[in-house]
Amino acid sequence: MHGGLKTGQGQDLREWIARMQAAGEVITIKGADREREIGGIVDIAMRKMGRPAVLFEDVPGYDPEFRVLANLFTSVKRIALTLGLPADTSEVDLVRYWRDYMRNAPTIPPVQVNTGALLDNSFKGEDIDLLKIPTPRWHEGDGGYFIGTGCMVIMKDPDSGWINYGAYRVQVHDRKVASVMISKGKHGDILMRKYHDRGQPCPIAVVCGVHPGLFAVAGLEIPYGKNEFEAAGGLLGEAIRVINGPVTGLPIPAEAEIAFEGYLHKGDLIEEGPLGEWTGYYAGGRDMRPAIRVETFWHRDKPILTGAIPGVPPNDDTFYRGTARAGVVWHELEAAGVPEVKGVWSHEAGGSRMWLTVAIKQMYAGHSKQAGLIASQCHAGAYANRVVVVVDDDIDPANMDSVVWAMCTRCDPRDDVQILHGNWSTHLDPMSYPSDKHNMNSRMVIDACVPWNRKADWPETVRNTPPLEKQVREKFGKFLPPGW
Ligand SMILES: Cc1cc2nc3c(=O)[nH]c(=O)nc-3n(C[C@H](O)[C@H](O)[C@H](O)COP(=O)(O)O)c2cc1C
Repeated sequence: MHGGLKTGQGQDLREWIARMQAAGEVITIKGADREREIGGIVDIAMRKMGRPAVLFEDVPGYDPEFRVLANLFTSVKRIALTLGLPADTSEVDLVRYWRDYMRNAPTIPPVQVNTGALLDNSFKGEDIDLLKIPTPRWHEGDGGYFIGTGCMVIMKDPDSGWINYGAYRVQVHDRKVASVMISKGKHGDILMRKYHDRGQPCPIAVVCGVHPGLFAVAGLEIPYGKNEFEAAGGLLGEAIRVINGPVTGLPIPAEAEIAFEGYLHKGDLIEEGPLGEWTGYYAGGRDMRPAIRVETFWHRDKPILTGAIPGVPPNDDTFYRGTARAGVVWHELEAAGVPEVKGVWSHEAGGSRMWLTVAIKQMYAGHSKQAGLIASQCHAGAYANRVVVVVDDDIDPANMDSVVWAMCTRCDPRDDVQILHGNWSTHLDPMSYPSDKHNMNSRMVIDACVPWNRKADWPETVRNTPPLEKQVREKFGKFLPPGW
């Protein structure tokens, strides 16, 4: 479907930064080094009130005009402002926004242009030097410098011509060499194998300084065969302007800050990692990953590297992907025919994937099990999930006290906990198996709804009835603190 949303912000990272600075959402730090200090500050900013974005300038040892921006989306306010929503939008409203976005799936095709700020500086052959970017070691234990975290990795289906982009981590190794870590089963992995299976190198483009609206789509599970550029156009409300890479022909945002293109050759692997990951561990270790042999490199004048840094949740993944995932799972449940879904929540501490809560109004026997099992396996819920909890619609799925209360009082573990084996997971999950592949996990679907056959004699809840709630609020509201 065409006809996008209206964020009204354009697609230039610098406009976004100006807007967030005006909203008090960005702090600027000068002189932090890339080896330990940038990562150290990002880690603190991720844990503290407000969790601002941090713009680093004057990185020692680098061109003082080259900058790094991290913590793009560690606040609900910044996500809301990026989407053109009011600054005080709640998390649950964001979930509804993402659900509606997925329901309508607005798309606007990208438009090819010949000029753009990205072309300010363009390099080929021996002039390529990825090392001029002050790429930080994001965590002390990282095995290298990850230029691609808040990034777009762009690839093309050799059969259909479908363009896909995803956020897959990219490590920089040398002036013309990077690597990419794409988990098995992700679209980029499927596309790469298609080229390699027919003995061809796989074209790839990496964008590592970009408007957060474009990056956000990279981290979302847009369905197989759907073009993320079109989805991003729909989200931003305007066609994404792209130039075509002269070597690979892949589309690259014309306003990007930093980008490169090249090839992944079959069997051309390089030692990569570890990177402290979104599960909060270094579970992935160091391994051999596909090398990117870079053939063209571009950057804007005074380029800005964007970082979306994983770590112990909540992290940069958690805020936007938690609300977005909850919205997408909600949409996918409805699309699978599950009626009366009233809310979905993806808990921050589960890194946006490992914990999902679904609230339903029970309509028939087995409804709650159906909702839980589908949530645990639908596209947006399947990868690396561990726990799904289904609750009744009197429970706010985003309120963990209420969810735990429902689990403790409405669930009979003999019948209401399903353990599923052999599900889609990743080596980043410290509990994944088998030990030589680490690509599967087990998970738990907990039915914490009032048992369907006991609804008639279920005891009443000890809570104000709506009439009493209304009465005391009307009469004594002036004595209650704001926001109660
Ligand atoms: C900041 C960030 C970093 C990510 N890093 C990786 C990664 O290194 N490898 C990976 O397979 N997925 C990674 N992901 C998850 C994918 O981007 C996500 O699953 C996306 O939907 C993949 O695109 P695809 O559905 O087109 O495969 C990351 C997501 C974010 C937001």
